[in-house]
Amino acid sequence: HLQEDQLIPEQYVDFISSLPTIGFYSQYRGFWFPTLFMQGVLSFQKHFQAHETDILMMTPPKVGTTWLKAILFAIVNRKNHLDLQKHPLLTNNPHILVPYLELHLYNKKEVPDLTPFPSPRLFSTHLPYALLPTSVKNSTCKIVYLYRNPKDTFVSLWHFLEKNGMTTDSFEETFDKFCQGVSSFGPYWDHILSYWKESLENPQRVLCLRYEELKEQPTIHLKRIAEFLGCSFSLEEETNGMINDISKLCSFDYLSKLEVNKSGTTHNMKIESLFRRGEVGDWVNYLTPQMSKKLDDIFKEKFHGTGLTF
Ligand code: A3P
Repeated sequence: HLQEDQLIPEQYVDFISSLPTIGFYSQYRGFWFPTLFMQGVLSFQKHFQAHETDILMMTPPKVGTTWLKAILFAIVNRKNHLDLQKHPLLTNNPHILVPYLELHLYNKKEVPDLTPFPSPRLFSTHLPYALLPTSVKNSTCKIVYLYRNPKDTFVSLWHFLEKNGMTTDSFEETFDKFCQGVSSFGPYWDHILSYWKESLENPQRVLCLRYEELKEQPTIHLKRIAEFLGCSFSLEEETNGMINDISKLCSFDYLSKLEVNKSGTTHNMKIESLFRRGEVGDWVNYLTPQMSKKLDDIFKEKFHGTGLTF
């Protein structure tokens, strides 16, 4: 049996084909990964060296990754982009400004050279906590995690898979798999639990945010994020409306109407598929009462006694 930490890149293909698969997914250390990105997962785990100043954002797919990328980029780089009319978010999709580690930078044959990235480096990954490279776990770098109500996450995932031709399953089949834990970087509950536990043990290192909270009170959470990252908004910035400006710049309405976010592809995804409705509770339009109850029951059981609620 191949030991993945000793693999050389030439052995990745054999290792990956030895993993259990269901549809487009391969099972690796208890989680389901799109097979297409498995080599990126292995290479990222093996080669990434965290810096103490890194800011890493972690998300399961479809919980608002694109939004969080925009927010973190805008907060961290705000001093360099005071003129919002010339802000990089106006001309670049957030996934270009904050690259994915396993889906993008490491998902190629050569190990990427990350030296051109200025400090603090801002990267993103969908990996669950337990599977992060050792250098990340041993580092004091900051980790921002975002998660979302499972019903909206599932509905968002379904639309995304369909629009990008990433599934041949029906809505019902996709739902059943999601409930069995078979979804991109799933089981979804285990993904959330992995970061939730870490944030309780190390609150200065891992900040967990919820899509619904961010949507309801963006300015409060933008302040929280900046504080957590050690770049709090000054009184002057607050009175000048900087927090509000960033919140508006990153809002669904604003970003989704920009030309750069209306067409084209990024990392095998249609850019337009990243902006669908951006609302809380859209699941009522898609899930039957039975499906809704099934998810309630699963998540109630999985999150029992953890303090996590939806
Ligand atoms: P819906 O499909 O429910 O509309 P990800 O970026 O992780 O792929 O998540 C995609 C989801 O986030 C989609 O949800 C998308 O519409 C929503 N989204 C994208 N940009 C957003 C923004 N600026 N504010 C709020 N939600 C956003």
